[in-house]
Amino acid sequence: MGSPALYDTYARLPLAFERGEGSWLITADGTRYLDFAAGIAVNVLGHAHPHLVAALVGQAGRLWHVSNLYEIPGQQKLGERLAQNTFADRVFFTNSGAEALECAIKTARRYHFVNGAENRIRIITFEGAFHGRTLATIAAGGQKKYLEGFGPAVEGFDQVPFGDMEAVEKAITPDTAAILVEPVQGEGGIRRLSLASMRKLRELCDRHGLLLVLDEVQSGVGRTGKLLAHEWAGIEPDIAAIAKGIGGGFPMGACLATEEAAKGMTPGVHGTTFGGNPMAMAVGNAVLDIILEEGFLEEVARKGLLLKQGLAALADEFPDIVEEIRGEGLMLGIRCKIRNAVLQGALREEKFLCAPAGENVLRLLPPLNVSDDEVNEALGRIRTAMQAVTTGSAEEILPAAGEKSQA
Ligand SMILES: Cc1ncc(COP(=O)(O)O)c(C=O)c1O
Repeated sequence: MGSPALYDTYARLPLAFERGEGSWLITADGTRYLDFAAGIAVNVLGHAHPHLVAALVGQAGRLWHVSNLYEIPGQQKLGERLAQNTFADRVFFTNSGAEALECAIKTARRYHFVNGAENRIRIITFEGAFHGRTLATIAAGGQKKYLEGFGPAVEGFDQVPFGDMEAVEKAITPDTAAILVEPVQGEGGIRRLSLASMRKLRELCDRHGLLLVLDEVQSGVGRTGKLLAHEWAGIEPDIAAIAKGIGGGFPMGACLATEEAAKGMTPGVHGTTFGGNPMAMAVGNAVLDIILEEGFLEEVARKGLLLKQGLAALADEFPDIVEEIRGEGLMLGIRCKIRNAVLQGALREEKFLCAPAGENVLRLLPPLNVSDDEVNEALGRIRTAMQAVTTGSAEEILPAAGEKSQA
């Protein structure tokens, strides 16, 4: 498998799927894998959900694309629904998470520009962050391995240790425009910013006239049991980026902002060819039809607890394998004592899929409509895999001295 025609940028597994059904992915030979990676938190309603398929196919027969030179009714509808159900008043649709972040960064800088403070362009970010792979978002994420070889980093990002509120306070200067943070770091290893820290960030922003910008690309759209993860802290940001789940597998993202924060985004200052196109909007609206159904998010929280409790029991049973279980809702992480890749390989042997992350973590990000039976099935497979690795040789399974845990 693999093709020399493709960029060599991914370490792909020699595994391909032909179709999907709910929480399952199926290979051409009919082997079924329980999918707790869900396209890395994308397939929020599993694979081939009939409501999403109907929305996409219905739209495909009517109209694929028109430019943003014209009214797009599906965009207005989705924008208004997002505004009604979140802190936001204004929405800009994009094709990806990184583009939603680009829009968020531009919105924050423009806000200060139109307020007459052109100097305020700096944004405080956090170690371990991941905001995407464009030039601005790799600078925001600040990870050397993603910046190396791509020329001077985009200027204007000041990084502090994750969760260090004193360092945030010290990093604020007259040039600071905003603070940008993931309420739960995904790639960073399912690291949740404490609710007290979220509130502290809000307070610091208010005190210093900064905008609070949240990257909810992975944590948003129901993943933690709230529509957006910041709701747990009882605070509201000024700007937030979402993507992944809002398209349920169709590529799309959105930048959400309050009326005030969006005030610099006037005609002509930003744009996109594909963002908010009718196909994406049809699917986005269909995703919200289900996520916003009465009781859906409560179910996510309940199933998250079921999975987390089961994982905690496995952590007790396999103390040499599991360091810690972390996360919220259906955004959970197993921090491993052994190399996470070894456990991930053993899980794949059990036909169970999950995603690696930093800090030697394996991420469990199942579809949000996963069933209780599937959660129990997952726990059974994880247990079997853990049993299998305990019989492996120590050099193979333990992290080498000094080995970076980042996946
Ligand atoms: C928190 C976060 N922000 C931004 C991104 C970038 O999104 P995309 O890959 O759609 O550009 C990701 C993707 O993994 C993410 O997890």
